[in-house]
Amino acid sequence: MKRSSLFLIGSILVLAALGAALLAAPAAAAETPAQKEARMKWWTEARFGMFIHWGLYALPARHEWVKNHEHITDADYQKYFDHFNPDLYNPKAWAKAAKAAGMKYFVITTKHHEGFCLFDSKFTDYKAPNTPYGKDLIGPIVQAMREEGLKVGFYYSLLDWHHPEYPVDSIHPQSGDAAFREKMKGRDVKKYAEYVRNQVREILTNYGTIDCLFLDFSFPGKDGKGRADWESEKLLAMIRELQPNIILNDRLDLMDVPGGWDFRTPEQYLPREWVTMNGQRVPWETCQTFSGSWGYYRDEASWKSIRQLLTMLVEVVSKGGNLLLNVGPTARGTFDERALERLAGMGQWLTTHGRSVYGCTAAPAEFPKPANCLLTYNAAAKRLYVHVLEWPMGTLALEGFGGKIQYAQLLNDASEVRFRDTSKPGVADEEDGPIKNAVILSLPVLKPNVEIPVIELFLK
Ligand code: GLC
Repeated sequence: MKRSSLFLIGSILVLAALGAALLAAPAAAAETPAQKEARMKWWTEARFGMFIHWGLYALPARHEWVKNHEHITDADYQKYFDHFNPDLYNPKAWAKAAKAAGMKYFVITTKHHEGFCLFDSKFTDYKAPNTPYGKDLIGPIVQAMREEGLKVGFYYSLLDWHHPEYPVDSIHPQSGDAAFREKMKGRDVKKYAEYVRNQVREILTNYGTIDCLFLDFSFPGKDGKGRADWESEKLLAMIRELQPNIILNDRLDLMDVPGGWDFRTPEQYLPREWVTMNGQRVPWETCQTFSGSWGYYRDEASWKSIRQLLTMLVEVVSKGGNLLLNVGPTARGTFDERALERLAGMGQWLTTHGRSVYGCTAAPAEFPKPANCLLTYNAAAKRLYVHVLEWPMGTLALEGFGGKIQYAQLLNDASEVRFRDTSKPGVADEEDGPIKNAVILSLPVLKPNVEIPVIELFLK
């Protein structure tokens, strides 16, 4: 062969190798901040999603960690598998309830820590199709939610309290059983990590476009598990390759890896302010329950009220975050009536007040938060939303707002709210006290008949 053609073939091979390497690298790692923002745009604007925790633990109905809490062995847990038959499962009804609640996306457990898979996996027998129910549970809900216009998210547990190669650790149900630990000493976490990759590949290839992925969780250190155990980098590269636009949570123990996470996940608490990393504001989503446990819990009485839940949603948006609110369906396949009532109540409020939530974020610093209020802001529409948590007597003073407001109205009925702008000479009167540069709203004595009244301010 001539030297020139050898050179040509050589160059082609080098280029092909380079191309393959580029393809294999997680695309998100090479993203600019603007590209990441664009990829996450739908999610940031959505603000409100539904978490669904469903599994065998719906049968004991006393927490999704019941296997751990009560140190239940595989043999004793088997009765829940043998009796799993959600005969009333109606994915269309779930999707309608989520849509009517005002939720824009959902995230469902495909496998929780107990190891039971709601989907049809080639890599385990421990799955819904092998229970009395006999079918995949994931496909139908994905389809139903998509039909209602919701984006699709999967939760997948990195922990697995059933897999035969999952090394026993500090939070395994049998962690305190020395004899069991000794017997299971030979478990190979490498084989387990491969199982995780195989299953994540399945859920990311068998159901079309998956919009978000919630992997749960890492607890590195003594008797724990983290990136070395899960082989997180390898898993990450596969995820980014299979679903390049997917939005990924932060529990792979890859906080220092570019593209290793897309958003932070404060769980069951409200951050005091917009969540930051190295001083920078980052995307965040708080996941919350109605009553404390994620799985269906029959006897739990600590249910939050509609009003509390709405306040939580607004507070989250006022700090630039998303709320992923959890439903734990029953073992019959239905949403608990307590959940349905709250979902409906939130949806009712959002029908008229969605404008202060979707596409909104924290107010610019030049607008200080008035007492007993929460502020959200829509930059594109140039509007500020004052959520009034305690209805005041007659007036509401917005300090620092002077000169900035063009028009004001109640959001529930678009009725005008008249105001005085004390930044203008001669407008402040004695009643206003020492306040300067404020907008004083005149409010009706009667609180509007909605959970949280909102005043919509059109900015100049
Ligand atoms: C925790 C819990 C779990 C729940 C999850 C939701 O990590 O282990 O039960 O699924 O949080 O974020």
